[in-house]
Formats: sequence, C-alpha cells, structure tokens
Amino acid sequence: MPEELSTSGSGPAGDDLLEDLGKYVNPGRSRIYRLMGMTNIEYRGEGSRVIDEQGNEFIDLCAGYAVLNMGHRHPTIIEAVTRQLEKMGLATKTMLSRPEVDLARSLADITPGGLQRSFFCASGAEAVEVALKVARMHTGRKKIVATEGGFHGKTLGALSATSKGTYRDAFGPLLPGFIHVPYDDLAALQEAVDENTAAVIVEVIQGESGVVIPGDDYLPGVRRICDDAGALVIFDEVQTGLGRTGANFACEHYDVVPDIMTLAKSLGGGVVPLGAAIVLPEIFDVFDENPWIHSSTTGGNPVAASAGYAALQVLQEENLAEQAREKGDWALEYLKRVQYDYPTVISGVSGRGLLLGMHFADPSGGVMVLTELFNRGVLVVPSLMNWTVMRIAPPLNIPDEDLHAGLKRVRKVVEEVAPQLEEM
Ligand SMILES: Cc1ncc(COP(=O)(O)O)c(C=O)c1O
Repeated sequence: MPEELSTSGSGPAGDDLLEDLGKYVNPGRSRIYRLMGMTNIEYRGEGSRVIDEQGNEFIDLCAGYAVLNMGHRHPTIIEAVTRQLEKMGLATKTMLSRPEVDLARSLADITPGGLQRSFFCASGAEAVEVALKVARMHTGRKKIVATEGGFHGKTLGALSATSKGTYRDAFGPLLPGFIHVPYDDLAALQEAVDENTAAVIVEVIQGESGVVIPGDDYLPGVRRICDDAGALVIFDEVQTGLGRTGANFACEHYDVVPDIMTLAKSLGGGVVPLGAAIVLPEIFDVFDENPWIHSSTTGGNPVAASAGYAALQVLQEENLAEQAREKGDWALEYLKRVQYDYPTVISGVSGRGLLLGMHFADPSGGVMVLTELFNRGVLVVPSLMNWTVMRIAPPLNIPDEDLHAGLKRVRKVVEEVAPQLEEM
C-alpha cells in the first residue's frame, strides 16, 4: 500500500469502504463487488496501468468503458488542464470563453464532412438529448427510429432510444414517437422511416450490445433511406469515436457523414467528463433564434474544454487511430486463435480497431473469466446490453508488451476455466 495512505479495514479493499459504499452510495454495487471478490480500491492510473491501494498493478484492457483512449493521466492533457486551472476553473458565463471556442473549432476541423457547430455537455446521454431535440425542432417531426440492441444512455430521452427492456421497463412511459427496428437490416429500416420521421439514431458499431459490426452497405443505406424521407441521420459515436475503431470516427470506415454526431467518453481525455453533439450548421440554425432554448450551465466549461482540446491534439499527434488499427488487427487474430482452441468456451470474437468482443458460449463463462482475470491483474468489462460478451477496449496507446501480456493471461484463464465450463 502506498505510504501516504491510511490503512482502512482488514480485507484487500478495506471492508469499511465497501460497507460505506453500500450505506452512502448504492448497496447493490457494494453487494456485487463483494460477491465477485473484486474489492480492491483503485489508487493511481498511469498509461495502461492501474495501481490499487495495496500496490497491486493491473493491466487496463477496458479503459473505463472506453473513456481512456489516451490512457490514464496523459501528460499533455494533465498539463493543459493544470495550466487552465491556474487561471480559471468554471466560466462566469458573462464573458466570452476561449477554451470552448477553441475546442469547437478543433472538432469542426477533425470531424468529417460539414459537421461544424458543437453543443457541449458532460456525458453521452446528454449529447444524445441534444441530438434528439435538434432533430425534432429542425424537421418539425416527432418520430425517431432507433435500433434493437442500440445503447444511447439512460436519461429519459436517450433511454427512449436505448432498446434494452431491463433499463426501460421501470420508467415508462418513455417519450412517445420512438420505434426500434433490427440493427443492420435495411429492409426493416426502409419500412419504418417515413414522412413523419425526424431522425434515425444509430451506433456505427454497437458497443454495449457486444461489438456488433454492421455490413458494409448498412450505413450508406441508412443515409440513403433518410435522405429519401427528409429525415436526419444521427450517428452516436460516444463509444466508437476518437480513434477507438481504427479511424478518428467510425463512420469514416464507411465513408458516410451524419447530420449530427454525438461524442463523449474519451473526449474529456480521460481526465474530465465531456460530451458534445456536433451538428451541420444549417440544421443547428434552428437554435439560433433562442440560443438558450437548450443549455447547460457547466457545458463547455474552461477545464473540460481545455482537456478536450488537448485530447484531440494527442489523438492526432500520436496517430491513435492507426495505433488502434494495428494493435486491434493483431489482438483480433490472437483472440480468434483462442476461440479456435477453446470453441466450447468462446463462441465467437468480433472487433474493429481496439473495440473487441469475446462472445461466450455460456453466459457464466464471461463472468468467470472476467473475475479470474481481475485476480490475475487484468481489467476487462462485460457488455451492458449483452452479458455474454466480454469487452476488450484498452487505451489506444497501450504498449505492445502490456497488450500481449494481458491477452496471454486471457488465453491462460480461458484454458483453465474450460474444463469447469464443460462440466456445467
Ligand atoms: C454509444 C453510446 N451512447 C451513449 C452512451 C451514454 O454515455 P454516458 O454514460 O456518458 O451517458 C454510451 C455509454 O456507454 C454509449 O456507449
């Protein structure tokens, strides 16, 4: 345990922290951590490594559900945020603020096509809310078409687009006008989109559903169907954006540009929460008359904006998309060999760049492998919409040694759990 910390509790986590998590934050989370034996307390992040309070080191193969494309505490981003904090934290909102505009200009430069106007917020769900509101207001239409398996966040508007019943059922009625069609099915989409449709909202690759990659004709087809009906295209790149899939934005693989793109997660450089909806100017103009028709008090604040600006700098200077492509190609091949050797455990692997999914034949296999990997110092996560898929999505600048060492441990754990799973 690092010296400057006080010892708390007796177990590896300090049982009192687990208890207080349950008492003051959320008993369900406390129970699950305890049940899975994942009770270590994170203390320090460094690149692709995480160190706990006991000094145990973990290889980070999940990057906090893809918020850490640039790794933990990237020096360029830390320096930018520190410099900003020395001058000003949050904005007064009475004057112009340079970091916000600098970030918006930088986003307009880097995003494809004519995407230009940015609305800043703190999360992916909030970015989706903006996209939905702009679409309804611009078109004057109410209907939103989303996809089965799509995940867009859990605020009520975003949740109306998210498809999983577990997250929706307790909160109805959700917003009217939303329908869901099968993903990667252009015939179903064609049937659903009509003259009442404001927008189609879709993930370029479905992340939380377990890394579902559409056919090459899907996104061009989405664009064509929407254009024919006068509906807008919203690409939710909250998870796939900023180099994750081997391109700065996943839609670039398919050469299709949306009318609105949502970003969050790694936009804050792994340091500050930051989300954005980036919109074609002629569509965003609908907010011109009353610029406060949708607003966020802290959206685009100087600290978050300086982190975002530095994150985009790192994305380009370190060519993170290319790193993701090269490392992802290698990792996908590696995992395919694991699947080949243990087909009773792994039923499939999918991935593009460093967004990779291991599909387990038995759902309990994923949980067993995930917890055992944790015990061996490797962090991975499940997929929120599909627990049979374990996700591997490390920082994009993870050193080869860490990626190789992490995946070797994946192979070893799969080998060890195989006999147990076969007996079940
Ligand atoms: C594609 C996508 N959209 C939206 C969200 C919601 O983002 P947040 O959790 O920051 O609200 C997520 C989160 O995982 C996501 O993957």
